[in-house]
This record gives sequence, C-alpha cells and structure tokens, in this order.
Amino acid sequence: MKNKLRQISWDEFSSMDAMTKAPYMTENGRSFHVLTAQQFTRPMLEELCSLATDVRRIAKTREGSAFLQKQLFEKRAMLYFAQPSTRTYLSFYSACQIIGMQTMNVRDSSTSSEMKGESPEDSVRTFSSYADLIIMRHPAGGFAERIAWMLSNISRPVPVVNAGSGKDQHPTQALLDIYTLARSFEHTDGIDGKKIAFVGDLKRGRTVRSLAWLLTQYQGVKAYFVAPRELQIGEDILGQLDAAGMPYEISYDFEKVIPEVDAIYMTRIQDEWDVNNESSRVNTAAYHFTREHLNILGEHAVIMHPLPRRLEIDPAVDSDPRAVYWRQVRNGMWIRAALMLTIFKHDGAIIDYSREHQL
Ligand code: NCD
Repeated sequence: MKNKLRQISWDEFSSMDAMTKAPYMTENGRSFHVLTAQQFTRPMLEELCSLATDVRRIAKTREGSAFLQKQLFEKRAMLYFAQPSTRTYLSFYSACQIIGMQTMNVRDSSTSSEMKGESPEDSVRTFSSYADLIIMRHPAGGFAERIAWMLSNISRPVPVVNAGSGKDQHPTQALLDIYTLARSFEHTDGIDGKKIAFVGDLKRGRTVRSLAWLLTQYQGVKAYFVAPRELQIGEDILGQLDAAGMPYEISYDFEKVIPEVDAIYMTRIQDEWDVNNESSRVNTAAYHFTREHLNILGEHAVIMHPLPRRLEIDPAVDSDPRAVYWRQVRNGMWIRAALMLTIFKHDGAIIDYSREHQL
C-alpha cells in the first residue's frame, strides 16, 4: 500500500488526468504528497478544517504553543520557491514554526548549481537529502509532480507539497479558501448550497482552477465565472465540473451577479504569463469591486482574494466586515500547519489535546 508512486512509471503517471492521478498521492486516505486539488475528498477537507481550528485554538495559550512546537521538531522542511512569492512563502514558514518544524530555503535558482548546468531534478534531489519535506513553487506546470514521482522512487522517499505550479494548480491556496468559506458560513449551514462567483483572470489563475474543483465536493454549490472573454475559465475545468454535476454560469455582467451570490472570489490579472503584453489590451475595469458595490452585495456575503491585489478591489472596501481577504491570509497558516501535521501523522495528538483541554 505504501507509496503508490513507486508502482508506476513516470510516463504512465504523467499521461493520466488529475482524477486518475489522485490515489497515487495518498496512503490509506491520508495525503503523502500534496500536488493537486483533485486528491482531496470531502471527508479529507472536513478533517483538515477541523484540525486547523484545533491548531488555531491550541496556539492561543503559551502552554498550547509549546505543545504544538514539540510536534515536528525533528523534521526539516525545504522551502524551494523558484517563482516570486511572499505570502505563500511566509505562510508556510510560519506554519512550520507553529508546529516546530525546522526550515531551509532556496528562493532563487540563480544562486543554486542550476547555474552550473545542473538539472532542476538533480537540484531538488540534492535538497531532499537534507529535508523530510519539500514545499515547492515552480513556474513549470507539472514540475512538482515530476519531483514527487522522483522523490517517491528513492530509498528514503520525501513528501512534496505543491505551493503553486504553473498556471495550473495551487492546492494549498484552495484549502485555505475552503477553510475561509467554511468559517464564513459557519452559522449559515456551511458551504453546501452556496453561490460563489469567481472574477478576474480565470484563464490563468491557478487558485481559481484548484478551488473550483474543491467546490464540487459540496452539495448544491453553484459557480459563476465572471471575466472578460479573453480571460474566461478553461474548458478543461468546465469539463470537470460537468462531470461532477456542479452547475455554473459564465457571465460578463459583474453587477448582475454581485447581489445573487454568497461569496465573491476576486483575482488579479496574471500578466506574468503574457506572451505579447496581451492583457494590457483587455479592459478589466468592469470587473473591479468598488465601494458602491457594497450596497448591492448580500448582507451575509463575503469578498475573498488570494492576494496580491492590484486595482480589482478598492481599498475603501477593506473595512467592511464582509471583506475577509485579510482573515483568509491567516487561515492559510492554520490550514498549512494542519496539512503538515497530517502528512506526518500527528493529527491524532492534536485532536486528543483539544479534547482533553475542551477547546
Ligand atoms: C496567487 C498565486 O501565486 O497564484 N497568490 C498566492 O499564492 N497567494 C495568486 C496571484 O498571484 O495572483
């Protein structure tokens, strides 16, 4: 049962779709590698959210913090970020600190031996010799999967957590988004049955792609994809939603959608992927959330954003209680701590502590 990625060749694995790949990343229903949103089932999501809440509550006291820091003090994480990142990097770094895990980092491949002609695979294999966990962000879609396959097929397998790969996947951002939605709807029957709008660059936004999939795990959720034609959501994701039976609407009229939904997920234009400066020619002004929009937004609705933001949300919106993007950042730290505790099978200890202390 252990480490299923050892039982399959890279060619065979890489030619599978995300759904077929999913079971290869888990061991007995628990994530070993975290590579895609598709590997998470609803029970896994609920367990992670509940564990994140336990960690958050335990961390409130000095005694609780000390208990958390004892969990993974003998483990070391390598943060390998070959793409710009501050919040995801700091979120993982803080999460490691909360659970006592030591960290090392490589943030710029121009300072590594890749400059001497070493292959990126060899570089990560070298890092893995010092680490018990690789947390990585890379511009090449599928690279984290390639590394996970490679690090499964060595004598001391090392788990890989994908902290953003290409335009395709950002599974841990999607987890923190789910945790934020779950907390926002705690008193209104949870995520089931909610209407959620995605706005902005949906074509190249990996956070949207990962989160849209996770929402298929909930009952009766409806998605609205609101973007200029040039930046609309990909057919591949729509195909996955169709297969999962999740209803959605493609819309070009943001103001019509605002009053209808329970959550609005704003995103920035991902122009780092432009080939020919093409996004500068797209008029996105009609897809910005302004102060006036607060008047038509539902009383219990929330506004989210994976950040960094540019002009898509007026800063005047920040002080409205329905703007939850700053809380979303903090939720990331808790859910990432919970995820790493689960990978190293320390979730039981956390649950026991919570029960004993009636948190
Ligand atoms: C996102 C990313 O890197 O994909 N940021 C993040 O992880 N918080 C979104 C973005 O960069 O727009």
